[in-house]
Amino acid sequence: MPTRFAFVILLSCFAGNTFAQSKQIVIETSHSALVLNVGGNQRVVQSYLGKKLAPAAYPSGGREAYLTAGMDNQFEPAIRMVHNDGNPSLELKYVSHKTTRTDDVVQTDILMKDPVYPVEVTLHYTAYYNSDVIKSWAEILHREKKPAMLTEYASSLLHFNGDEYWLTQFHGDWAREVNIIEEKLTNGIKTLESKLGTRTNFYQTQAFFLSLNEKSTETTGELIAGTLAWTGNYRYTFEVDQRNGLRVRAGINSFASEYYAEPGQPFVTPAFIFTWTDQGKGQASRNLHNWARNYGVLDGNKERLTLLNNWEATHTTFDEKRLVELFDEGKKLGIDLFLLDDGWFGNNFPRNDDKAGLGDWQEDKKKLPSGLGYLVKEAANKGIKFGIWLEPEMVNPKSDLYQQHPDWILKLPNREENYGRNQLVLDLVNPQVQDFVFRIVDDMMTKNPGIAFIKWDCNRSMTNAYSPYLKEKQSHLYIEYTKGLYKVMERIRTKYPHLPIMLCAGGGGRTDYGALKYFTEFWPSDNTDGLERVYIQWGYSYFFPSNTISAHVTSMGKLQSLKFRTDVAMMGKMGYDIRVNNFTPQELLFSQEAVKTYKRISETVWFGNLYRIISPYEESRAVLMYVAEDKRKAILFNYQLQTRRKDIFSRVKLQGLDPQKKYRFREINLFPDTKAANPDNDKVLTGEYLMNIGLNLAPGRIAPLSSNVFELTEE
Ligand code: DGJ
Repeated sequence: MPTRFAFVILLSCFAGNTFAQSKQIVIETSHSALVLNVGGNQRVVQSYLGKKLAPAAYPSGGREAYLTAGMDNQFEPAIRMVHNDGNPSLELKYVSHKTTRTDDVVQTDILMKDPVYPVEVTLHYTAYYNSDVIKSWAEILHREKKPAMLTEYASSLLHFNGDEYWLTQFHGDWAREVNIIEEKLTNGIKTLESKLGTRTNFYQTQAFFLSLNEKSTETTGELIAGTLAWTGNYRYTFEVDQRNGLRVRAGINSFASEYYAEPGQPFVTPAFIFTWTDQGKGQASRNLHNWARNYGVLDGNKERLTLLNNWEATHTTFDEKRLVELFDEGKKLGIDLFLLDDGWFGNNFPRNDDKAGLGDWQEDKKKLPSGLGYLVKEAANKGIKFGIWLEPEMVNPKSDLYQQHPDWILKLPNREENYGRNQLVLDLVNPQVQDFVFRIVDDMMTKNPGIAFIKWDCNRSMTNAYSPYLKEKQSHLYIEYTKGLYKVMERIRTKYPHLPIMLCAGGGGRTDYGALKYFTEFWPSDNTDGLERVYIQWGYSYFFPSNTISAHVTSMGKLQSLKFRTDVAMMGKMGYDIRVNNFTPQELLFSQEAVKTYKRISETVWFGNLYRIISPYEESRAVLMYVAEDKRKAILFNYQLQTRRKDIFSRVKLQGLDPQKKYRFREINLFPDTKAANPDNDKVLTGEYLMNIGLNLAPGRIAPLSSNVFELTEE
């Protein structure tokens, strides 16, 4: 894990720069550069985004970096403001900029002002040099007498001039998340967005690839990968103009969200995170993973706990005795932690199904008469840790909370209540509700300090939403809800900085870097079928590192062997959600060994560099590998999917190894009484051979839904 020494150098100041110095503003990472210039009219333009060049080679001129509405611009604006006098225009002129460096991070802030109205906008760019990632956001401030209305407030606007533009988006629904579609952008506007309010990634994952000039592959092509660090409604627009110029705008979705900015109070947009590369999608993913582990995810470069969850094994039907038996099963398996899922709370309205209890976070005295403290202690006696499920933002109408605090709930006056999974969303804009949600966690942790993990669920989006707290300012709801959630998470993290918390929203509903700075991992899908998970985990791997992608072995994939399901879970953050006592003796032995194997290889899986070699979208198999930073170790995963007799699988050339090194190639995680069938098993091969000649990973007859895990170790 990298040790980082922080030092700060002020490269230039707001005041004192000569005009010549401030004309060109270069934001660089190790391989890329974003170049801005101040035009003759004092407007800031984007002159270049691409491969890093010598400063003299960067062009000047370009298109306005943060397009305003109401003046001469005719395209989608980054910002639109209506002033106190009703004037709906804004002009932003360069005032100054400053650059500061801390370790491998360079911060550039550009201050612009309207020459007529008292409005200023600061564009912020953080360049993460080593990971080739740039984070960009805006801060909007005015000093008019009354609130000024913002109807657009993008985080970032980027300009491109390419021959063609290819957009890759990821869409889905419950239990079929993150499906890939790539299409050519044509004239006009393509929008990717969410209006769901909560669990906003349910239908559309909040990330995209944009390939320039031609489609990119895993290893070739120029592209950017982008994602907005925001847990609320988001919107990306891709606008191709009449001259084939492209503007990519990213930010909070302004749908139904005019924002009345108070004088003197900055409106700070969330950050747009992107990486540019000319080495294909694989490199873009590795850049984002690297950034995420070091800067984007809570404890991203620290170890994770393996766990046994009880959801798929018991749903809400359990009692104390049954749970303690499950601890034994977890212990037998060798995992670190038992995670108690939904169904442990509620007394007047016990949580025996999804119809009641949300909001009443007291132990169900019938199911758990001795309380959570007893469970924590019993787990500790068995030598495992204890974690718990919460869904603190929600309420069932059948609950004490609903009766006591009807004013804490998002619902329209004069309309019927509208439910999703029989529940309503709490009004997290209200500081009292924020306090309530914080206290759910804090009281539980204070009473039971041994709780070592939380799964934070969120199982509905907003409909018929109205905040009693906001009164006439309803258009602030979507934004203030998300800010309310962040305020709660800030408080939790101040008091419990390293408690592992899983971000869960019914699977795939919350997968964004705005939340992940408070969470250690996320739940990608309620679909845990091994075959489906190959595709789902593959999809998320484009943007998230493997130690954030929870992958549990369950009984859902009846068609696949336990070996296959385990091998699939091993490519992510492995856990279990299964009845261990239903295992055959061989299955138990296999799983016990698998947990040990995973613990041994997880350092490479979690912190190594990912190479996606054969996509399940292109062949009926998937092959990927993780290579340790020092290239002394690698783990290779090979999944044969719905193969047919006609399939011919060519040799697989590995990637990311050191050509000079010699590696022992060995199959691991074999099922008891089976032998490695690969002809190269246990051979010592050079990196050069492995990457140029490659391996036959489908020797003999190809068994559908079979899999292998191989370890490569430097000799
Ligand atoms: C949805 C989650 O995705 C599941 O894993 C489980 O925790 C249920 N909620 C419980 O209600």
